[in-house]
Amino acid sequence: MLGLTGAATIGGAGVVSAHDKGNNADSESDSDAVTNESGIPRYELPPLSYDYDALEPAINAEIMRLHHDKHHQGYVDGANSALNSLEEMRNNNDFSEIKHVKRDLSFNLSGHVLHTTFWENMSPDGGGKPSGYLAKAINKYFGSFENFKAEFNAAAKNVEGSGWGLLVYDHLADMPLVTQAEDHNDLAVQGATPLLVLDVWEHAYYLQYKNNRGKYVTNWWNVVDWDDVTQRYEAAQYAELSGDGAPSI
Ligand SMILES: [Fe+2]
Repeated sequence: MLGLTGAATIGGAGVVSAHDKGNNADSESDSDAVTNESGIPRYELPPLSYDYDALEPAINAEIMRLHHDKHHQGYVDGANSALNSLEEMRNNNDFSEIKHVKRDLSFNLSGHVLHTTFWENMSPDGGGKPSGYLAKAINKYFGSFENFKAEFNAAAKNVEGSGWGLLVYDHLADMPLVTQAEDHNDLAVQGATPLLVLDVWEHAYYLQYKNNRGKYVTNWWNVVDWDDVTQRYEAAQYAELSGDGAPSI
């Protein structure tokens, strides 16, 4: 499973198995790719790279199991359902429901992308501070790591309702930005690549932290995998908005 690095995300196909093998150039070898009968890719739930209890005590196993197996799976299913509806609309040349279906696609696919990034942003060996180019960029654009954390914490803790705190890469200015998302897609900065994302939907913390979102956010820093975030940052720096340059067909 491609790891939703910056280039993959920008290319728009990072979570689709059909594009995970050989990155399009040898698509004829994609015999085990997940597609429908028309050859259109379908999304898949990526497995966790660690056990459900590996992030304890920051996030307990019960939350991880439900969050990954049920909630994330729901977004995968919702995104694929939207793809099915779009294909049916095309076949019937009837686009009367396009507003509804496009809304479903935006919500569920954004949820799939963000959750996939979220799992990979965390590690049982996480915590500490970034290094290398990411550390330099954070110091340049936020003043210090502590200033960056303060802005990210404020963004995450003050999401109105359900949503996310994010560190993204803005390709127009070539700089990192802290942003918020309500639900999965509202307030999104188009074209920006997620580097580090924190799920602050209640399903992400309520079973362990009840209504104390702030404590959850504070403890979450102990499992942030800065190696993963740094890889995303460096990939985003070299990516172009059009993707990795390989033709899709
Ligand atoms: Fe979630």
